[in-house]
Amino acid sequence: MNLLDGKIVSQAVKVRLKTYTEERLLQGKKAPHLAAILIGNNGASETYVASKVKSCAEVGFVSTLIRLEESISEQELLFKLNELNEDFDVDGILVQLPLPKHISEQKVIETIHPSKDVDGFHPESVGRMVQGLPAFYPATPYGILLMLEHYNIETKGKHAVVIGRSNIVGRPISIMLNKNEYPGNCTVTVCHSHTHNLKEICLQADIIIAALGRPEFLKGDMVKEGAVIVDVGITRVPDGSKKSGFAIKGDVDFNDVAPKSSYITPVPGGVGPMTIAALMMNTFKACAAKD
Ligand code: GUN
Repeated sequence: MNLLDGKIVSQAVKVRLKTYTEERLLQGKKAPHLAAILIGNNGASETYVASKVKSCAEVGFVSTLIRLEESISEQELLFKLNELNEDFDVDGILVQLPLPKHISEQKVIETIHPSKDVDGFHPESVGRMVQGLPAFYPATPYGILLMLEHYNIETKGKHAVVIGRSNIVGRPISIMLNKNEYPGNCTVTVCHSHTHNLKEICLQADIIIAALGRPEFLKGDMVKEGAVIVDVGITRVPDGSKKSGFAIKGDVDFNDVAPKSSYITPVPGGVGPMTIAALMMNTFKACAAKD
């Protein structure tokens, strides 16, 4: 069993981006600028956005954190987004999800200009990705691809089983893994809550992407010897022994599955850091596209 270490790989990506950014500055060009909007006081969202802002500083990007009250109206938020769309210095815009119930996620996603859509959630970005055109890939699937690439994991002709079909992870990674270039060319099966024989399907998988959001769902008896396991889950479960009062659990029962796997991501320290590295890549690309 080998660890797919998101801390190491994300650090390597960030070192590369820092160098590219320094080169830009030496050429008299601007540094990439990410604007992040955080609404309300969701603990997990606060942590994620803080990591994104910190990573910007690490790679030499400019970041603007815009904190808005939970009670902000949809109209006010859309107005703010339009301001950011028109601000030439801002290269990438992200609105941390989930949103308060009174705000339409779809309207927010569609208001961000596609040229600044570093989350890759806009229908134009998704459409371009599906058609194999240059596009902003959503950060989590993109981070997974960067990790598979780093470890030279063979994907051609492999059977990849994706558990989960969310717009953020399951659906896009299923499309990205079957594109006609490395890392892709997999035969992909997408499983979800209505799938029959999930265990039998998982047992056929060379690569499993667990992205269903159910702590420790994937067990050792559902995995073929030598499979590559990517765990996208990050659920907070109450844990009195931790100072924070919670532990982070993946969708994979690590201790049960790891001995059978050839490669496996830990949680935390696997896909999570890669998501942020991928967001930084997208922000850099958004900036460079304006040169
Ligand atoms: N919430 C959970 N994952 C994500 C993500 O990748 N981007 C944003 N904006 N919000 C999220």
